Parts: sequence; structure tokens; C-alpha cells
Amino acid sequence: MKEKNIMNSFPKGFLWGGATAANQFEGAYNEDGKGLSTQDIAPKGVIGPITSEPTEDNMKLIGIDFYHRYKEDIKLFAEMGFKTFRLSIAWSRIFPNGDDKEPNEKGLQFYDNVFDELAKYGIEPLVTISHYETPLAKNYDGWVNRKLIGFFKNYVTTIFTRYKDKVKYWLTFNEINSAIHAPYMSAGMWTPKEKLSKQDLYQAMHHELVASALAVKIGHEINPEFKIGCMILGIPNYPLTSMPSDVLKAMEQDRQNLFFADIHARGEYPRYMNRFFKENNIEIKMEPGDKEILKNTVDFISFSYYMSACATADPEKIKKGAGNLIHGVPNPYLKASDWGWQIDPEGLRYILNLFYDRYQKPLFIVENGLGAVDELTTDENGNKTVNDDYRINYLNDHLVQVAEAIEDGVELLGYTTWGCIDLVSAGTAELKKRYGFIYVDRNDDGSGTLDRYKKKSFNWYKEVIATMERA
Ligand code: BG6
Repeated sequence: MKEKNIMNSFPKGFLWGGATAANQFEGAYNEDGKGLSTQDIAPKGVIGPITSEPTEDNMKLIGIDFYHRYKEDIKLFAEMGFKTFRLSIAWSRIFPNGDDKEPNEKGLQFYDNVFDELAKYGIEPLVTISHYETPLAKNYDGWVNRKLIGFFKNYVTTIFTRYKDKVKYWLTFNEINSAIHAPYMSAGMWTPKEKLSKQDLYQAMHHELVASALAVKIGHEINPEFKIGCMILGIPNYPLTSMPSDVLKAMEQDRQNLFFADIHARGEYPRYMNRFFKENNIEIKMEPGDKEILKNTVDFISFSYYMSACATADPEKIKKGAGNLIHGVPNPYLKASDWGWQIDPEGLRYILNLFYDRYQKPLFIVENGLGAVDELTTDENGNKTVNDDYRINYLNDHLVQVAEAIEDGVELLGYTTWGCIDLVSAGTAELKKRYGFIYVDRNDDGSGTLDRYKKKSFNWYKEVIATMERA
């Protein structure tokens, strides 16, 4: 790693690896008994429209065909020296309609095969239980319906029991706070966002939070060795200026996200939300026992980090910055990626410290990376590759800040880069936006062989992991 001698900062046993999500890379959307999920009818990504049934232009239906190529892909991850691999289980592979009484054996078998393959190479699976997909089950309107807690309970009990000796690290809901911005994709809610009341939105969030805490409880009962974390979309807000009103605005915007981590880490609703609920006429309906369930706090806090945002109290200055979900005010000091996401490595050090100061629980960075257009070229040995120095620089700069945070005293379990193998983007459903160390020959017009090629960053990451191991 360039720039600083921080090799000794990363602790022994640090979980280096990469991250993915079922709906963005598995493909095989209707094979072996899988039911449809909310993603299968969303061809344009998180913020695009939905269709009545799967359409050919939906890149996620084939994804990058991990379902059939997992052995080849895991071998490549092992070659890079991965200690962990983050993947999600497609709920609709296990319970095709969401409310089924019995699970789909073939779906369960698929993940058994994947976990066994990972075990062959000593790679620890890191499993997201629900990553931006809910079984379609239109009649429930997603998490606004309390019945989903029961269906989820059945799902987690099934997978915890089945994989209790194969998986140790679990994440409940991917970017649970994202449901505020993308209620269909993140919380399976059919009611269009414009028509959705804040009351329903936060009630749905309450159901997810209860379900998440219930998963922690059930998981620890099934295997006390399980480490179960929440997963937060991490986006620190800076005041746009030193005006006190901007500082307060940044605090408020941060709380909109921290609220979710606060409940997971502290086991109760934070008092600051009372005012927000009051001012927005929200009254969370709790059932007896909910408060008790929420007390099942997580073992660690995981989060994604791509960018920071600025907050201003001045409505004149509020311009939309880009992002797949959250639009902040652009920071005049930062450059942006091709997709307009502002690049801020120091923001990662900042948010690591923010989370650790607040909770004193271990942290896990489970997403970070650069979405970019890659050009496939041929090297001097005739091998196809991508010279992705921009990605190497991006990751290097972020890792330098991670090391700084560890020096600051932050307890960090691991780091998994997003989309370690190219996959379909969540925000825009493109393949043109690539994050991987491994290039996948598939294009947005559906062409491509699906063959895999190592990018320059493949060997770079391999070297980083090997060097850190030796340190
Ligand atoms: C996170 C999601 O929001 O960002 C991932 O957890 C997603 O699913 C990632 O892919 C990157 O976003 P995008 O829109 O570039 O795919």
C-alpha cells in the first residue's frame, strides 16, 4: 500500500475480502424453484419504474451467472487471498412466495454448495439475510405489513438452522436506512413513494427493526457463536459552512441515518426521534413485546461507504448532488466519480470514528469502491485485462484512511470492497458501471460471453492482502 507505513495497523485475522448481492450477480432468477423477487420486475434499478413481469432488458435476470459459475469465481477470490466473501441469500430462492410454510430444498442446497466451496479455500462467508429484495408477494405491500415479521422469522430460523455450522457472520438488512429513500427496493413496499405517508414509512421501518432484533435473538439461540450485525448506509454529513444553522442541519441529517444504528446498538429508540415523530405526525404502533425484542442488540455494526454529503440550512443552496439513493449538497472541495459520487477517503476515517465513539462495538466496512467505465485491453502476454489504476488509487486512498482510523483506536473486523467481481449496478441496473477486480464480459445490450478476466487491480489487491498478512 502506498503513502504511509501503516502495514502494522491492520490486526491479525483481519477479514479482507469482497462483497456482492444475490440479485445483482446470481442470475438464474427462475431456476430450481426460485420465486420472483421485487428486483426481478425492476429493470432500471433502484429509482427506475417497475414492470408487471420480468422483461428482457432486466440485466439482473442473468446477472453475471454466479449461480452456475460460483466455483470458478470463488477460485479467483481465493487466488486473491480473500479471507471473507460477502454474499446475500435470495429470500425468494428459499421461500418462493415469502409466505410458504416449507422452504425450497433446491434453494437451500445451492447455498450449501457455495458455502462448501468457500470452506475449501478457508474463506469465511459473510451473509446478508436481506439485500434489496423481498419475495414479490404483492398482496402484503412489503414491510408496512406486520405479517412480514412472521415470514422473516420463518426465513431466518430456516437459514440459521441449516447453515449454523457453515456461517458465522451475518448481516440482517442491507442498508436498512435506505428504505426511507427507496421503499420499494429496500422494503418491498408497492405503494408509490409519493403516495406513501411518513406514518407508513416509519411504521414499516419499525417492523424491519423488530425483525432485525428478532433475527439477532433467534440467531444467538441457534448458535451462540454467531456474530450478527446490522448494515447501515454510511454517509457522513458535513456542515456546508461554519454557520451554526448548517452545523445543526448536519446533525439532523446524520441522525436520520444514525437512528437505525442507534436502535441496533443500544436496543431502544433514541429520544431525539420523539421530536421528529411529533413534528411529522408519526405515531409508531408497537405491539406488546416489541420493546423487549429491540433489546437484542447486534454484535457489530457494518456499513457501506461511498461518499460524504454536505448539509445546509439555506434552501437557496440546496442543489442535488448525485448518489444512488441519497442526494446531499455537493462539497466544493471534492472531486466526483463518473457517476457524480463525490470521492472522500477521509470521510471514511471520520465515519469509522463517529460510529466507534458512539457505540464502542466492533465495526465492519462491508462496501466501498469505485464504479467506473472499464476498457478491456490486451497485455504484452496476450491476456485480456483492464488497466484500472483509477480503481487502485481510489481503494489505496481509502485503505490509508482505514489504517489511520485503526490507529485512532477503532476496532475493525474487516473490509470487503463492493462488487469484487463486476456485477449489475443497484442504482441504475447497468453493467457499464463496474467495481470489480474481475472483469465480466457482459454488456448492457445483453451481448458478451460472461467470461472472466483479471484486471490490474486483481494483482494489486492480492498483494495488499498478502503484505498485510505478513506484517
Ligand atoms: C449500495 C448497495 O447502496 O451501493 C449495493 O448496497 C449497490 O447493492 C452499491 O450496488 C453501489 O451502488 P450502485 O448503484 O453503483 O450499484
